[in-house]
Amino acid sequence: MPKRPTFAQVHRRSLDDKEAFWSEQAELIHWEKPFKTVCDYRNPPFANWFVGGKTNLCYNAVDRHAEKHPKRKALIWVSTEVDKEVVYTFAELQSEVQRMAAILKSLGVKKGDRVLVYMPMVPEAVFAMLACTRIGALHSVVFGGFASVSLASRIDDAQPSVIVSADAGSRGGKVVPYKGLLDEAIRLAVHKPEKVLMVNRGLAPMPMEPGRDVDYATLHQRFADATVPVTWVDSTHPSYTLYTSGTTGKPKGVQRDTGGYAVALAASMKHIFLGKPGETYFSTSDIGWVVGHSYIVYGPLLAGMATILYEGLPTRPDAAIWWSLVEKYKVTSMFSAPTAVRVLKKQDPSALKKHDLSSLRALFLAGEPLDEPTSAWIAEALGRPIIDNYWQTETGWPILSLCNGLQKQDSRIGSPGKPVYGYDVKLLDESSGEELTQPNQKGVVAIEGPLPPGCMQTVWRDDARFVKTYWSSIPGRQVYSTFDWGIRDEDGYYFILGRTDDVINVAGHRLGTREIEESISSHPAVAEVAVVGVADQLKGQVAMAFAVLKDASKAASTADALKLEGEIMKLVDGQLGAVARPARVRFVSVLPKTRSGKLLRRAIQAVCEQRDPGDLTTIEDPSALQQIKDLVGAG
Ligand code: PRX
Repeated sequence: MPKRPTFAQVHRRSLDDKEAFWSEQAELIHWEKPFKTVCDYRNPPFANWFVGGKTNLCYNAVDRHAEKHPKRKALIWVSTEVDKEVVYTFAELQSEVQRMAAILKSLGVKKGDRVLVYMPMVPEAVFAMLACTRIGALHSVVFGGFASVSLASRIDDAQPSVIVSADAGSRGGKVVPYKGLLDEAIRLAVHKPEKVLMVNRGLAPMPMEPGRDVDYATLHQRFADATVPVTWVDSTHPSYTLYTSGTTGKPKGVQRDTGGYAVALAASMKHIFLGKPGETYFSTSDIGWVVGHSYIVYGPLLAGMATILYEGLPTRPDAAIWWSLVEKYKVTSMFSAPTAVRVLKKQDPSALKKHDLSSLRALFLAGEPLDEPTSAWIAEALGRPIIDNYWQTETGWPILSLCNGLQKQDSRIGSPGKPVYGYDVKLLDESSGEELTQPNQKGVVAIEGPLPPGCMQTVWRDDARFVKTYWSSIPGRQVYSTFDWGIRDEDGYYFILGRTDDVINVAGHRLGTREIEESISSHPAVAEVAVVGVADQLKGQVAMAFAVLKDASKAASTADALKLEGEIMKLVDGQLGAVARPARVRFVSVLPKTRSGKLLRRAIQAVCEQRDPGDLTTIEDPSALQQIKDLVGAG
């Protein structure tokens, strides 16, 4: 019997013989027209996958399964916020998606148009996403926790013809109205959508703008039996854009293709996430983030699995809610974030023991570093394998993990594993660009082009920015930078050590400190501000702001300072959303800068974390850092 290749051999083959490797994976999806070229990389760093092929993401996620297994569960919506549970079979999902597609078409949406989705975790959000890809329109989902200024900048960049939204979300039993924020965002935006499709959940007032706003329920009735054929699109046709934060204040629209994404996700469900058709997958993320796109909506459905869409907290009505869903729906793979586990850890640990979790093959965790105590606690409590995986909005699916579906690999505490097939991962010296080949050397985690299928094609409407941001930051070579520090041990396991740029990770939510700074600076009392990410036991990191006031007397007394701090936090809540609110806003008379005027963010961060700030020879005014030290020390 021929010997099974080792994982290292599979990985090597995925890079050396891309054509063969990815052609095999491409069989996991339906191609209406076969592709001619597996990868066209004649114009690096722009990679085109499965060129010449025609397919459709929605067809592969829904119709294909509805044809064969109409009665199988597809979408399981559970809301502990409004106390509802609704199960849609593949046939029912297909019908809902067609109704939504018919509605969008009636509102003028055409192939290539953008539809912005600003929604809570409700089934209509999933219908809208799938309806878009069904007709070749691009969805652009904006996280429901973002507020009007964040939303307005995304509206202006995506230029949607239609926005789909709802009256409100709900969090911890508290109604979170959306419509006011949306109206304000549209007012602020230069681009105006033609139509706004509103889902009324009956949670909050929903004033309608005549001529622009339309009611979903009415149209849903009108298009009760609508059938909308799938629009077959080129493999390289963009399926969606999703905004993410970077070094500059302006969020980047990550643009994804169709065929490459479908193949990459289908393969990842098999090789990484151990999913099988007919089983149930439960990702606790939000559709507004990349994990929600790839592993609430598309990945599980492409694999013919049921997917759970959960609206609510992990701790309400009690800390057993997730595990009760695992038991009830016989979840086989679950995906969450370390922060959520840390939240549960603080609750009653016996919650886990109350339920039969024997269906669960593994719990996958991603989005932020998985610390050892959290990993050990959940592994013990669940009695199931915990599999860390590392990736980014840009890549759409894991860069580092264990591919246990291909070959069983041991996990190593603190490490998300090894490079996944398709990814040519390198550790590079930040200043020389040289490859670090020895174990335990710290470098920038980089990926040699072409990026594998499913990764970002470009920055929406900004090819130059794609090249400049991602492929030009390492001296002397055109290589993709993840902007993460990492090391690799002697056995090839990687460890991620945090971002090299100004991105912070609060409770698994990726935020740009520059965006928060811009928002705080818009307060009339603020002259200048620095925001840094500071290590936090529960959330991984929190944002800390240090502001210089135009008139220092405005925060002269503790009471005045606290009042102003509260005002600034409210401002950030209203503009960006509560997710971006800094944990503290402190006032200083001067910010630590170099003599050439560059903010010493890493030094501020170090002082906040009570670490050595490192080389300070270039600092303009050493007392600036001392002020921060004193504030932090005083608590
Ligand atoms: O810094 C890394 C961190 O999250 C960033 C990407 O965040 P986002 O675009 O929101 O995508 C999340 C997809 C899971 C990365 O640049 N990160 C992600 N996963 C891990 C991680 N850090 C450590 N360990 C991980 N497993």
